[in-house]
Amino acid sequence: MSNPGTADNPLRVAVVGCGPSGFYVADAVLKTPGLVAQVDMFDRLPTPYGLVRYGVAPDHQEVKRVTKVYAKTAEHPSVRWFGGVEFGKHLTMDDVRAHYHAVAFTTGAQTDRRLDIPGEDLQGSHPATQFVAWYNGHPDCRHLSFDLSTERAVVIGVGNVAIDVARMLCRTPDELAKTDIADYALEALRKSRVREVLLVGRRGPAQAAFTNSEVEEVGELADADAVARPDEVALDEVTKADLAAHPDRQTDLKLKFLTKYAEPRALSKSKRLVFRFLLSPTKIHGDASGRVSGVTLVRNVLSAGADGSIKAKATGQTEEVSAGLVFRSVGYRGVALPGVPFREDWGTIPHEAGRVVDLARKAPVTGAYVAGWIKRGPSGVIGTNRACAVETVKSLAADLAAGKLLAPSAPRDAVTALLKGRGVSWVTFPEWSKVEALEVARGAAAGRPRVKFCSPEEIVAAARG
Ligand SMILES: Cc1cc2nc3c(=O)[nH]c(=O)nc-3n(C[C@H](O)[C@H](O)[C@H](O)COP(=O)(O)OP(=O)(O)OC[C@H]3O[C@@H](n4cnc5c(N)ncnc54)[C@H](O)[C@@H]3O)c2cc1C
Ligand SMILES: NC(=O)c1ccc[n+]([C@@H]2O[C@H](COP(=O)([O-])OP(=O)(O)OC[C@H]3O[C@@H](n4cnc5c(N)ncnc54)[C@H](OP(=O)(O)O)[C@@H]3O)[C@@H](O)[C@H]2O)c1
Repeated sequence: MSNPGTADNPLRVAVVGCGPSGFYVADAVLKTPGLVAQVDMFDRLPTPYGLVRYGVAPDHQEVKRVTKVYAKTAEHPSVRWFGGVEFGKHLTMDDVRAHYHAVAFTTGAQTDRRLDIPGEDLQGSHPATQFVAWYNGHPDCRHLSFDLSTERAVVIGVGNVAIDVARMLCRTPDELAKTDIADYALEALRKSRVREVLLVGRRGPAQAAFTNSEVEEVGELADADAVARPDEVALDEVTKADLAAHPDRQTDLKLKFLTKYAEPRALSKSKRLVFRFLLSPTKIHGDASGRVSGVTLVRNVLSAGADGSIKAKATGQTEEVSAGLVFRSVGYRGVALPGVPFREDWGTIPHEAGRVVDLARKAPVTGAYVAGWIKRGPSGVIGTNRACAVETVKSLAADLAAGKLLAPSAPRDAVTALLKGRGVSWVTFPEWSKVEALEVARGAAAGRPRVKFCSPEEIVAAARG
């Protein structure tokens, strides 16, 4: 038989994880010049698109349009999509070796980073990851509940996820009802008594991780005022020197928005989204029943490290904030996959230019590749994952040319027989397309982009109906 990658011996690639990175890997494989390939894509969920469906905020529908591009990849005649097949449970590394020349892991960052402060696990203290997955109808999080009967919520972290969480808490029911937010979350937020949401950054406004369009957007909410404090928005000497040495127009614009929010004015709306800076939480307090009642924040000052980075250093000055809800939004974290190398300290799969590396042997794992958040860590917007996937597929193509891939013993269809033999019943892409059409039709009736099915049972029923 000829080398893999030809018409009589197509290159067989498994892609594990079907968020943006999985689709960009599949697309880059299919578009590699002169390569004939067959791609099998697996996701543990019966739905594709990862965080585009379950992370991107419901009021950012325009961002979700990228899924139309991914659908074209999934519909390519050389691609098979398997929804509801979990690597590590239904499919192992040995299975992959028997059936594919190569595998790309694109499983994203499935959990959250912790603050490691007392009170973090009190009732009412939640990772933002779970709140986000809940309001987006993620099958794993649909049963969660959040007590929205409190007046004040505190969000720790000032990245784009933190601002998504704060904005969703500050939107009116009418604003939310135009989105594809999960129905149960819409009902819960309709009854919400949250009136003030604090976004707490450990460094200053210039170092805040959120992007300008997100900061600007919260100044235009229907019934919430965006507020900041003049003393916290004013630049400290360390930041002034840093900006003088490295002028940055994006930072200037961000400061302009935040300075505007800090201007004294009559606040007319019923909710407030309050930016706080230079504060770190040191303790989350609970009441007698074990529910969150407040947070201790310590005031920080900034100092420049030897590497030029600007760090927060705690002073002794503290502030008590009463609140019934705390969301920690300090980053996502990758999860290890059985039989695949993993760096516990970074929460990523170790790699060199996308080739998975065995840390003990300090050598690449034959046929194993990685892309996206599980490769780089949990940062970067959707488009960042495209270049990341392209780098990975270039490494794969170079290894193919050098004869360094796996040599599967089983034919292509053996993997479907294997899964059936294990009692796995997966959702195909044509079936998913039926689910999506039904969701959109349910939405059209209610003037919404879609009404999501949130339980695996409902999704499978819609797929097979
Ligand atoms: C709350 C939030 C909002 C965001 N909003 C925006 C935005 O508005 N605009 C923007 O450009 N970017 C946004 N991003 C960033 C963007 O979502 C990420 O860059 C992107 O989704 C990362 O892609 P990924 O494919 O690496 O991971 P993911 O999107 O997480 O996809 C990973 C996939 O792997 C699957 N998986 C995991 N484990 C297994 C397993 N064992 N077996 C099989 N499948 C598995 C998961 O089910 C998932 O479908 C947002 C991120 C978050 C967290
Ligand atoms: N609309 C959008 O485009 C959109 C929406 C959501 C997410 N995303 C993208 O998705 C990625 C992930 O977003 P993210 O918000 O999860 O991560 P992020 O951008 O890395 O922000 C994390 C925030 O947590 C803070 N933090 C970390 N550890 C902390 C600690 N121990 N105590 C207090 N604060 C701490 C960070 O502060 P320091 O800076 O001081 O470390 C930072 O403010 C980003 O690239 C983001 O742009 C994009």
